[in-house]
Amino acid sequence: MRALSTEPLPNYDITAICEAARYAPSCFNDQPWRFMVATTAADLERFRGFLVPKNRRWAGVAPALLLILAQKNFSHNGKPNRWAPFDTGTAWGYLTLEAWRRGVVAHGMGGFDAEKVRSELKIPDDIEIIAMAALGYPGDPAKLADEFRDGEKPGERRPQADTMLTPDHFTR
Ligand SMILES: Cc1cc2nc3c(=O)[nH]c(=O)nc-3n(C[C@H](O)[C@H](O)[C@H](O)COP(=O)(O)O)c2cc1C
Repeated sequence: MRALSTEPLPNYDITAICEAARYAPSCFNDQPWRFMVATTAADLERFRGFLVPKNRRWAGVAPALLLILAQKNFSHNGKPNRWAPFDTGTAWGYLTLEAWRRGVVAHGMGGFDAEKVRSELKIPDDIEIIAMAALGYPGDPAKLADEFRDGEKPGERRPQADTMLTPDHFTR
């Protein structure tokens, strides 16, 4: 869903939505995910500047923009944590479920300039820049640019049988 309302998101909703992510399980309970939330006019302006133009055209009205980061190395021994993106995705999944439960859209975005994010926000090398997301209440699809209106219908998913592979799928 890309039709977002400009209505501000109360802090308690943002806190609760991010709190849900806190409960996600992670390898060694390392909790590698980190979130930066932009809600002030100045921060939103800055975060909008990271988005590719196409995303800016619908997410530009969002009252909150989220930057999703992951610590690449384990806290307990400094070794590479190859499950950090997996765990961060789990936390994002929890976040989206709590958002939707509260009637808030949480729409992930890969279309942004990660290098610009890194240099402008001085993100250190041991932090992976995973994704951005727009948060907001559902808006009026009629106000959405034509190019996005088709995408407002429920998304399709492939049949479960195409996902459930037999253990010999690649060897038979
Ligand atoms: C990691 C990730 C990156 C995405 N990047 C974008 C994006 O840059 N722009 C966009 O409009 N949607 C983006 N999406 C949304 C997906 O395109 C959308 O979830 C998918 O098409 C399924 O649509 P549905 O969730 O409405 O069923 C992204 C979703 C995820 C999880």
